[in-house]
Amino acid sequence: METKILKTDDESIAEAGRIAAQGGLVAFPTETVYGLGASAYDETSVARIYAAKGRPSDNPLIVHIADISDIDRLAESVSAEARRLTEAFMPGPFTIILKKSPLVPDAVTAGMDTVGIRFPENDTAQRFIRAAGVPIAAPSANLSGKPSPTEAKHVIDDMTGRIDAVIDGGSCSVGVESTIVDASGAVPVVLRPGGVTYEELTAVVPETVIDPHILESIGEGERPKCPGMKYKHYAPDAEVTVIEGAMDAVKKKIDELLLKNSGKVCGVLTMSDNAYDSAVILCAGKTNREYAKNLFSCLREFDKLGAEIVFAEFEERDGYGLAVRNRLYKSAAQRVIRV
Ligand code: TXA
Ligand code: MG
Repeated sequence: METKILKTDDESIAEAGRIAAQGGLVAFPTETVYGLGASAYDETSVARIYAAKGRPSDNPLIVHIADISDIDRLAESVSAEARRLTEAFMPGPFTIILKKSPLVPDAVTAGMDTVGIRFPENDTAQRFIRAAGVPIAAPSANLSGKPSPTEAKHVIDDMTGRIDAVIDGGSCSVGVESTIVDASGAVPVVLRPGGVTYEELTAVVPETVIDPHILESIGEGERPKCPGMKYKHYAPDAEVTVIEGAMDAVKKKIDELLLKNSGKVCGVLTMSDNAYDSAVILCAGKTNREYAKNLFSCLREFDKLGAEIVFAEFEERDGYGLAVRNRLYKSAAQRVIRV
């Protein structure tokens, strides 16, 4: 299959909309990461998303809308808390889980009785969804297990020949995925930290809690609320280890580890002015917000540079710290050294 690369002019967006409406797969930019979209009402196309990504079939997709009133078509029994959250954070880097309506096919929700709904803020994303004329089911547009794509070239690297088109809308401003809040029960629960911070959520609904699994790995046989929690994630070819703490102690530890691994091509992902000998260094930025924006592209860059081992500096500095830590721990398969 030839994968078309489309720009963001009106004609190209109209074409992307047509492709999706006719059953095709279109990768599109959002403010978080690139999504791999198909008509949410078309079960055959939705099945093609799973095949193109190599995604396990029990991991549900988020449905993307460009009109807030679509929530009432896709979901049932929307609580007052859920309304407050959607009013405050949509459009934006936010996904709400609600009881699904019969309109949403089981193929989208992997048989769950809830559906994740997201209204992206990105203008190109909104224009594409409107052009398609249907809600768009979309996971992140990476091969399953790889870092999420934050530029069209990442999508092209993973998906060429597997999908019909990609809209090149430049790089994503947030860089990590949306914050997922399950508002289908009595108390809203954060299932994945992301572009909306916990502080922002509790300012609107103070009762909101965080699922304890966010920073842990899921044990054999455990059933997480968010199926995506249990899968291998964001893994570059290199083996990643997170070194967490104050930056001078982090520097000391990484120097030690570099010495021990001097026979290998080592990379260091920094969030400081620390310099390291005999290592490929990429700086993710000094705030957690910048770190979020650059993390996935840095992980992909280390692979291009041939790094075999990556040490990632980390310190929690702002509201984005939880989202960065969650992604880092997963990309490191929970190899974390606290200093
Ligand atoms: O920012 C984002 O959310 C991006 C962009 C493209 O919108 N999308 C994204 O999709 O990250 P994906 O499929 O890579 O991650 C969605 C996560 C998965 O972990 C999935 O298990 C969870 O959301 N999820 C989807 N529907 C759910 C549901 N009904 N209940 C619980 N978790 C759900
Ligand atoms: Mg994903």
